[in-house]
Amino acid sequence: MTASTDPERRELIVVTGASTGMGAATARELARRGFHVLAGVRRQVDADALRAEGIEPHALDITVESDVTAIADRVARDPMHRPLRALINNAGIAVNAPVETLPLDEWRRQFEVNLFGHIAMTQALLPALLQSCGTVVNISSVGGRVALSTYGAYAGSKFALEAVSDAMRREVAEFGVKVVVVEPGGVKTEITERGIATADRLSAAMTADQLHRYGDLAEAVKAQARSFTAGGVTAERAATVIAKAATASRPRTRYTIGRDAAVLVRVARLASDRLLDRMLRLNLRPHYA
Ligand SMILES: NC(=O)c1ccc[n+]([C@@H]2O[C@H](COP(=O)([O-])OP(=O)(O)OC[C@H]3O[C@@H](n4cnc5c(N)ncnc54)[C@H](OP(=O)(O)O)[C@@H]3O)[C@@H](O)[C@H]2O)c1
Repeated sequence: MTASTDPERRELIVVTGASTGMGAATARELARRGFHVLAGVRRQVDADALRAEGIEPHALDITVESDVTAIADRVARDPMHRPLRALINNAGIAVNAPVETLPLDEWRRQFEVNLFGHIAMTQALLPALLQSCGTVVNISSVGGRVALSTYGAYAGSKFALEAVSDAMRREVAEFGVKVVVVEPGGVKTEITERGIATADRLSAAMTADQLHRYGDLAEAVKAQARSFTAGGVTAERAATVIAKAATASRPRTRYTIGRDAAVLVRVARLASDRLLDRMLRLNLRPHYA
């Protein structure tokens, strides 16, 4: 691997959703390791904050076709003809509400970002990844293995991302392209408070009957999410796992981040649905007011 001071930075890595949280930390970790990172951001202010040696911010909303095409062109026309070592599909949002109450356009928004955006990026960058025998890293979640109450849309998008990753890994392995899933548990980033703001907006739109059915549940889930995050790992710690997934020559198919994720993923694999229902209910109980 090239040293961080190497002016040539011989390989490219694309990171989506690099304005905050794990994406920003991963961009910095990979630049430190000597890669040239194309860091996807949506605002100029984030580009200015992120720009550094080895980090080139690039305007990128993964749901906007012209943005996706533009970053693929940037990779294809790299002036130094550097190979694309990895694409890290990290951008994500949390749209949480009970299944009954979540409007269909919100379901679509959740899937547009957490699933279709990643597929669009992967399709656009696959020619470069095929040339370089590179790696696709899809940032899923422990929610890609276990669907908590009110996480139907979020977990649905992450379960789907897991399935797409499995299918694609089996399709492209023989061409030397690796597909890796990363499953974080609680990580201290912006997503929790952003998700809670969205959940509050959605709760405010519930009917009186729906609020009667789900109001207390929604509040308990918010409190639980805050405590998961408070007990979670730092974005920098998460970034070391993501960087390993992106750069290992023989990566595992899946990496968890944090002890909570490692435990929950294992429990979910072993427990029956009914047992898991009971365990999750018990876990949520202390968070009711
Ligand atoms: N933190 C956790 O506890 C946790 C746990 C499991 C999984 N994850 C997953 O980890 C990933 C990173 O999240 P994070 O925790 O680091 O949260 P975060 O700090 O909120 O970062 C999310 C990033 O996604 C970007 N983004 C949102 N919509 C986008 C779009 N349409 N196009 C491009 N970028 C978009 C955001 O950009 P803007 O600033 O422009 O909105 C931001 O850079 C997500 O996929 C999330 O689901 C997080």
